[in-house]
Amino acid sequence: MPRFTLNINDREYTVEAPEKMPILWALRDKLNLTGSKFGCGIGQCGACTIHADGTPIRGCCVPIKALEGKVLRTIEGISVEHPVKESWRKLDVAQCGYCQTGQIMSAVALLDRKPEPTEEEINRAMKGNICRCGTYNRIKNAIMEASKNRIA
Ligand code: FES
Ligand code: FES
Repeated sequence: MPRFTLNINDREYTVEAPEKMPILWALRDKLNLTGSKFGCGIGQCGACTIHADGTPIRGCCVPIKALEGKVLRTIEGISVEHPVKESWRKLDVAQCGYCQTGQIMSAVALLDRKPEPTEEEINRAMKGNICRCGTYNRIKNAIMEASKNRIA
């Protein structure tokens, strides 16, 4: 079985896995990083969102082989004091919570590249993250709140 070296949350991991294994499987089943969730498995819901070199990607669709040499970040790599996690708690965003790690990863990537996004930019950046509980308004408000706190 091929071995891959991955940089995840500033730590190096070696994983034995088939080349085509999606990174989400490696994270959850081989590395016990279970914060990223499996939703649709076909790139449509965003529950599995992680960062590769700062860009949000769908972990269910990207093979482990394509991610060697990239800097990966998962929800476990976002500190509890991060402004996005703080605003999520303050505004009590989550309902069932299943989609929320993906939502947070997309929000963090947005604010990293655009610290003061407009409402339209938020809508565009977040449109691939589905929430069956309909927490969209709280998500948008939390992103605005985090943006305010980052620049305060
Ligand atoms: S589980 Fe990956 S996009 Fe839905
Ligand atoms: S909080 Fe339940 S799916 Fe989003």
